[in-house]
Amino acid sequence: MSTPELRVGVVGFGWMGQVHARALTRLVQHYPDTALRPRLVAVADNAPDDRTARAAAAYGFEHLLSDWRELVEHPEVDLVCVTGPNFIHRDVAVAAAQAGKHLWVEKPAGRDAGETAEIVAAVEAAGVQAAAGFNYRNVPAVERARRIVASGAIGEIEHSTVRFLADYSADPDAALSWRFRTEFSGSGVLGDLVSHATDLLGYVVAPVAELVVDRATFIAQRREAVPGAMHYEKGAGALGDVENEDYVSALLRLADGSRAVLESSRVAVGEQNTYGFEVHGTRGAVAWDFRRMNELRVASARDDAFTDTFYATEYAGPGDGEIGAFQPGTNNPVGFDDLKVVEARRLVESIATGTPVGATIHDALVAARVLDAMILSSDERKWVSL
Ligand SMILES: NC(=O)c1ccc[n+]([C@@H]2O[C@H](COP(=O)([O-])OP(=O)(O)OC[C@H]3O[C@@H](n4cnc5c(N)ncnc54)[C@H](O)[C@@H]3O)[C@@H](O)[C@H]2O)c1
Repeated sequence: MSTPELRVGVVGFGWMGQVHARALTRLVQHYPDTALRPRLVAVADNAPDDRTARAAAAYGFEHLLSDWRELVEHPEVDLVCVTGPNFIHRDVAVAAAQAGKHLWVEKPAGRDAGETAEIVAAVEAAGVQAAAGFNYRNVPAVERARRIVASGAIGEIEHSTVRFLADYSADPDAALSWRFRTEFSGSGVLGDLVSHATDLLGYVVAPVAELVVDRATFIAQRREAVPGAMHYEKGAGALGDVENEDYVSALLRLADGSRAVLESSRVAVGEQNTYGFEVHGTRGAVAWDFRRMNELRVASARDDAFTDTFYATEYAGPGDGEIGAFQPGTNNPVGFDDLKVVEARRLVESIATGTPVGATIHDALVAARVLDAMILSSDERKWVSL
């Protein structure tokens, strides 16, 4: 008997739309036992270029649309990838759920927790599955770190550091894209990177319980974007105000009583995807850096030798997370796109079984509430409890 199809529509065919399309295309190659076989049916993008035609040529989409409303109502679509800019996520996701479609929503989901809660309500009312794009959870070395922390091997967790530093907006001539405008993006580096950082901390250690935050915008104005430009292209129009934050620093108290320091920037010259964490327990530590994605540094106190206990590097192997679906042996690294294949796998499993696996829209709401609390803390200069 042939595998039933899962017919896919993608709204927004920029970076993430293409990554989702590739992940769904590759699913059956890495997971031949998949319960549903994705087929790319429709793509909607309103960019004034030939991007949907290119999507059809490279990925085989059959219906090329400029209006996402046609896509979410299309009778041949079972799953909608919500991969446009943040300001359309709520409208697209709610309409798609109401039309009975499953969802794969990119973080940060809505522009704030209120919008994300609206998506959650629509998903629950419709009884559909909804994955959220917290791909760093799917890194095999991160899964290993989580297992080590949960096992108690590094003792009681005392404190962690999580850093998400990037330079993608460090160029003052970079265009004033949707990412810098509250109306279109909501927050700045909070929604872009801190959403990932707080989700990762919650996944590996514990959810955030209390926080105090400082925010800064270092590049106050940028030139308007050319329509359809990607966010790292140069601006060419008039100068306009950057309306959200470039930088965030936070002190966190986690639900397990441990403490954490979080720092994130989109304007950090010298830092490219410097994403990672260090978790310190009473008997050891684990440290992970996205730039060396397959490695986990582990320090483990033996024979009560707490001082002068050194980090050793461990490499992810087939026992860690889903790496076995990609490579047969230890330290054959996975790449960024592979994380999205894992996300697709978990979503398809959720749809096939009716039981959520992997990060969901509920996790996006948890992160969104942390981000809203961070804005409140920063604006009012005070500690905020979740
Ligand atoms: N999970 C991750 O690691 C990750 C990485 C990057 C971006 N993201 C998230 O993915 C989303 C998209 O980011 P991106 O980097 O792909 O952006 P992008 O600018 O590269 O792509 C957005 C696409 O949406 C299209 N679009 C804009 N308005 C539209 C509309 N009304 N209808 C249909 N299409 C429309 C644009 O033309 C563009 O092709 C954002 O929410 C972002 O936060 C997640």
